[in-house]
Amino acid sequence: MISIEGLYKTFLDTEGGIEALKDINLKIEKGDIFGIIGLSGAGKSTLIRCINRLEEPTKGSIIIDGKDVVNLDKNQLRDMRRNIGMIFQHFNLLSRKNCKENIAFPLKIMKYDKEQIEKRVDELLDIVELKDKKLAYPSQLSGGQKQRVAIARALATKPKILLCDEATSALDPNTTASILKLLKNINKTLGITIVLITHQMEVIKEICNKVAVISNGSIVEQGNTYNVFSKPSHEITKSFLKDVTLNIDKDSLDDPENTKLVRITFFDHKAKEPLIYKIIKNFDVEANILSGKMSSIQGRTYGNLVVGLRGSNGNVKDAIDYLKDEGLVVEGLKHNGSSN
Ligand SMILES: Nc1ncnc2c1ncn2[C@@H]1O[C@H](COP(=O)(O)OP(=O)(O)O)[C@@H](O)[C@H]1O
Ligand SMILES: [Mg+2]
Repeated sequence: MISIEGLYKTFLDTEGGIEALKDINLKIEKGDIFGIIGLSGAGKSTLIRCINRLEEPTKGSIIIDGKDVVNLDKNQLRDMRRNIGMIFQHFNLLSRKNCKENIAFPLKIMKYDKEQIEKRVDELLDIVELKDKKLAYPSQLSGGQKQRVAIARALATKPKILLCDEATSALDPNTTASILKLLKNINKTLGITIVLITHQMEVIKEICNKVAVISNGSIVEQGNTYNVFSKPSHEITKSFLKDVTLNIDKDSLDDPENTKLVRITFFDHKAKEPLIYKIIKNFDVEANILSGKMSSIQGRTYGNLVVGLRGSNGNVKDAIDYLKDEGLVVEGLKHNGSSN
């Protein structure tokens, strides 16, 4: 339902300009929770803001329900925006208005009458579970409650699409989890397509059925979330999977100079196989597990291990090649824990 084709954005206000987006191509289907993940400065905000034309694309098209957003005139754009809600990292509530007035704001612009507004605000407060805060001001709310009000406001005009720009980045882990649960629920019960951008792998893992990885203004990988992360081909994608780091000090290794440190990432089909046992047995190496964690993407398991391997150079290399052939992601670590 959203088809982005050959999208470019160049900011010209600096010398030489900044190519913030380069040939972006994405297809977002109705009902998706589509995540776009990338490091700071990758172009995420620019991309999501092009979808509702808060940012003017330099080239390319963004087709929503058959209409190219890039070519709409002012009036058509206003109609289209009614179909696209948006929430932000810092909530962007009007501080001098209470919850009810914040949520009513888009409805007033659309000239709903008083009774309709009252009814719709109550429905929305019910959806975001904030009925008791109707008359509270933003300064009286927690971060999570403010984001709930922002979500209610974004949903006021019954949009089909919700854009989320780092919506949980200012929130603590528990509050993040409750907002993600709410977004999932909204997607499911109201059938709203969600496009979200984030630098947090937690967000993608938890709610996105599809993901695109953006780096330096280009999409480097995209697809079904589990598929993208279980067979990551780009270094950036692999870097988002690092759930464990080396948290031992060098002195605690028996023979640090002769120990090769690796981080191994593996996915559900491999989690049940005794691969560490196999490399010890078949390659005559010692494998010392230094830290580990199991996580899940869309309810499917994956794991991270930091392992110290000791043996002859040839054997250690063969063991690592074997693990890679088995489809595991194996990455060398320096003794201070950084990647080789
Ligand atoms: N209004 C602007 N003028 C000039 N450069 C900008 C503007 N907005 C963003 N940029 C640049 O575009 C690039 C992408 O920025 P942004 O989309 O905000 O990244 P992200 O949201 O992934 O952190 C950065 O290099 C940023 O400095
Ligand atoms: Mg941003």
